[in-house]
Amino acid sequence: MTEQVSALLSKYHQEHLLDHVDELSQCKRKQLFSQISGIDWSFLESYKKKPEYPGDIQPLGALTLEKIMKRQEEYRKIGLENIRAGKLCLLLLAGGQGSRLGYDRPKGCFNMGINRELSIFQLLMEHVMDVVKQADAWMHMYIMTSDSNYSDTVSFFKEHDFFGYQPDYLHFFVQEMNPVTDEQGKILMTSKSDLAMSPNGNGGWFRSMNRAGLLDGIFESEIEWINVFSVDNVLQRIADPVFLGATIDSGKMCGAKVVRKVSPDEKVGAICTENGKPYIIEYYELSKEMENQKNPDGSLAYGFGVILNYLFPISRLQETLHVSMPLHVVKKKVPYMDDMGILVNPTEPNALKYETLALDLIHEMEDCLVFEIDRKREFAPVKNKMGVDSIDTARALLLENGYDL
Ligand code: UTP
Repeated sequence: MTEQVSALLSKYHQEHLLDHVDELSQCKRKQLFSQISGIDWSFLESYKKKPEYPGDIQPLGALTLEKIMKRQEEYRKIGLENIRAGKLCLLLLAGGQGSRLGYDRPKGCFNMGINRELSIFQLLMEHVMDVVKQADAWMHMYIMTSDSNYSDTVSFFKEHDFFGYQPDYLHFFVQEMNPVTDEQGKILMTSKSDLAMSPNGNGGWFRSMNRAGLLDGIFESEIEWINVFSVDNVLQRIADPVFLGATIDSGKMCGAKVVRKVSPDEKVGAICTENGKPYIIEYYELSKEMENQKNPDGSLAYGFGVILNYLFPISRLQETLHVSMPLHVVKKKVPYMDDMGILVNPTEPNALKYETLALDLIHEMEDCLVFEIDRKREFAPVKNKMGVDSIDTARALLLENGYDL
């Protein structure tokens, strides 16, 4: 067995993973070998070459708040009718490691309350319950976790009685993982018998749902749409009937909630088209000229930032199962075992993670309804411990919106 594993590792220049193998018990050795044989080595290709650079980038207009207000009730009616007919399901992306927040439990367990307990999960479930009450119908809700935060997440929901949600409609599943490497592409270890692994990003969820055996139930049901959203925006409207109604009414293939940028150089991905397909251009990919480019009405041409709240049609997602999603290399802080066998907790980003991104899924769609939201009412991300998009800024926004913390 050791010889087979060594041959495999030498093929990928990862022989160092066996440096301490002689010190391991039989059981730990087995554990290490099984992790190594479970690796999908294609991730190393992304280390060598970046995903293709965007082609022709063009601005993409939005359904603005002003226009939405005028037809709000009509959209709401369409949305609620579809929810009642069982056509919408929800997906909470909760597999991230939340390294910027530096909290050792799942991010959703974080307490946003000041004088009472009010976790992020509770806030999100309250938002969903608002719609359940309006529609008088339950929606299937899928919750994606990572390998490492699965049991904590499920226990938290159980301890809180599923926040009043109908448990039969909640489905937890685990996303896939990739190894983490140093900057030279060598896989890091967290102990003599454990590889450093991290969740494979927020773009591969449909494939992970497939692997978890959840898609058959969806294909056999009435469900036509899935609302995908992140765990960390505590004010976002989930299962928003107005968003669903407007997307259906537009006849576009998918929908993306966006905020108007506060400045041309705000660090958010902007929605646009690439070679005619919807695309999200990262802030660092925008040239100064594009950043400041204006529409005829004086607004910014690349002025709408995505907030990771999308509506996708199930039928089209099914076709994307055969498309290979590019992996992006992201530099982050990851604890690792040094040459002396000691676990190091880095203070600066030290490692490369290999992730699929939601923006690549958007690019698989033919077109997209860009749906503007009021950022003061619906955008309060909890990303950092302090400063921008932090616990304090999100709490201030919750208070402004009348929450009792
Ligand atoms: P982020 O891009 O903020 O990543 O995730 P993160 O890992 O949570 O946080 P940092 O960057 O380490 O601080 C945006 C959304 O995508 C989910 C997160 O849980 C969050 O809802 N996500 C991210 C996953 O579900 N899986 C992943 O592998 C990565």
